[in-house]
Amino acid sequence: MAHATGRLLMVGLGPGTDLKFVPPAVTSVAAVEPVAAFRRTASRLAERHGVAVDIVGGTGERIPFPDSSFDSVHVGLVLCSVDDVAATLGEIRRVLVPRGRLVVLEHVRGEGATGRFQDLVAGPWSWFASGCHPNRRTVDAIAAAGFDTTALRRVRTPVPFPCKPHLQGFATALEDGA
Ligand SMILES: C[S@@+](CC[C@H](N)C(=O)[O-])C[C@H]1O[C@@H](n2cnc3c(N)ncnc32)[C@H](O)[C@@H]1O
Repeated sequence: MAHATGRLLMVGLGPGTDLKFVPPAVTSVAAVEPVAAFRRTASRLAERHGVAVDIVGGTGERIPFPDSSFDSVHVGLVLCSVDDVAATLGEIRRVLVPRGRLVVLEHVRGEGATGRFQDLVAGPWSWFASGCHPNRRTVDAIAAAGFDTTALRRVRTPVPFPCKPHLQGFATALEDGA
């Protein structure tokens, strides 16, 4: 979250825990969340913590905001469970200004044997964990959507298998043709 600046959109806000970590460089906050119960919980949390946030229903695949309306977009443990990663990243790029930041904390497919084992368990895990895919190649998908990914890095976390390693940092929306 520390990388977010200016007008911030949070995609897949969930119950709103991340609102507690919005940094001072952010000037306004909007959020898209498909689950009504999460939207209500997040609104209550925002009120308790004095955070002004416009929370709307919708999905990452169809973000209900105009082109170039945000300086930063945050995804936290969301790209693992959207139905269509490429469509979601395309929408994120559309609503970001050129050179805007996609701020990321996601769990991704590991290397070697870890990744192969994640491939094996992905089906049952997804059924068990509400559509979460532990084996997504998220950096590749972000790069393919037109972002510079050099400020993203893999980090070790104490989270149990299969939801590790994590990807943390930010990606920058490339200008068309860059
Ligand atoms: C693991 S939770 C993370 C919530 C929050 N970002 C956090 O870290 O506390 C995943 C969130 O993604 C949301 N989600 C699932 N599919 C989505 C989609 N297609 N577009 C946007 N959000 C989605 C879920 O409703 C849920 O709130």
